[in-house]
Amino acid sequence: MFKIIKKEDLNSDVVRITVEAAFIAQKAKAGQFVVIILDEKGERIPLTLADWDKDAGTITLIFQKTGFTTRQLAKLNPGDSIQHILGPLGHPTEIKKVGEVYCIAGGVGVAEIYPVARAFKQAGNRVICIIGSRNKDLLILEDALRGICDELFITTDDGSYVRRGLVTDVLKDLFTVIEKSTHTQYPALVYCIGPVPMMKAVADFTRNYSVKTIASLNPIMVDATGMCGACRCHVGGKTVFGCVDGPDFDAHQIDFGELSQRLKAFKKEEKNISEKNA
Ligand SMILES: Cc1cc2nc3c(=O)[nH]c(=O)nc-3n(C[C@H](O)[C@H](O)[C@H](O)COP(=O)(O)OP(=O)(O)OC[C@H]3O[C@@H](n4cnc5c(N)ncnc54)[C@H](O)[C@@H]3O)c2cc1C
Ligand code: FES
Repeated sequence: MFKIIKKEDLNSDVVRITVEAAFIAQKAKAGQFVVIILDEKGERIPLTLADWDKDAGTITLIFQKTGFTTRQLAKLNPGDSIQHILGPLGHPTEIKKVGEVYCIAGGVGVAEIYPVARAFKQAGNRVICIIGSRNKDLLILEDALRGICDELFITTDDGSYVRRGLVTDVLKDLFTVIEKSTHTQYPALVYCIGPVPMMKAVADFTRNYSVKTIASLNPIMVDATGMCGACRCHVGGKTVFGCVDGPDFDAHQIDFGELSQRLKAFKKEEKNISEKNA
């Protein structure tokens, strides 16, 4: 059993919990995730390690209430326990000193980019974060990200905060400035995480400039140990498993269309169970 010791609503959709999980906290690295099972009847759902504290023996998870299990998880309070947490899983993000890194995230992906941006910064890179949300109320971790990156750009779809538009609008503007300049260079690496259309748009844009781009993928996962094949994706024409080969992949090689289709595979069942338990 893994005891929840802290819970905060980051907004109406997104919750942050801190959980006692000493062994996972010892081993956690940026880019990795856990699988949680709420109780003996619970399904397995993957959540990114948003943070961890080796000394306190705790991990932090930030999740969006999207369906049955995440809504059940949001009902738990400090003192309650999660039956199983498996992890850390997946390859850590490859963190090296490369120069300048753009970290781009949308929606709850902002929680997932935080440990990655921090690790790139700690490795000595100049880190530019570009984050976006549908509106001001749904934006999370602005202050936390401001504290660890060199520059932070924010967009909202409806223009209710900072700049109206998409994270790719900022990306395009930054590249336009670089194109016209004689003394600045394109980033050595772009890292993105968030909704599939956003990651695809980032990859389609940076491909034109041959700027290395990594996307952290979020396919449906079941066992998360490479056995079931639920998370299979195609990258560079090869079949890969998101759970054990990823979650980070070369964004220019990913078949995003297939990923998008596979994420919708159980929509009917997900809707049925959500309605039954509403
Ligand atoms: C490596 C990885 C890390 C993730 N990290 C986070 C995170 O930090 N925070 C967060 O809010 N979400 C994260 N997700 C997505 C999260 O797992 C899903 O939102 C969750 O499983 C939804 O379950 P549900 O029962 O609440 O909703 P459902 O109604 O069952 O599903 C809603 C949508 O979530 C996706 N989904 C459903 N089941 C799974 C599953 N078993 N595996 C993956 N996706 C699924 C599908 O697109 C589905 O349409 C991550 C996914 C992956 C693969
Ligand atoms: S989730 Fe089963 S192989 Fe990846």
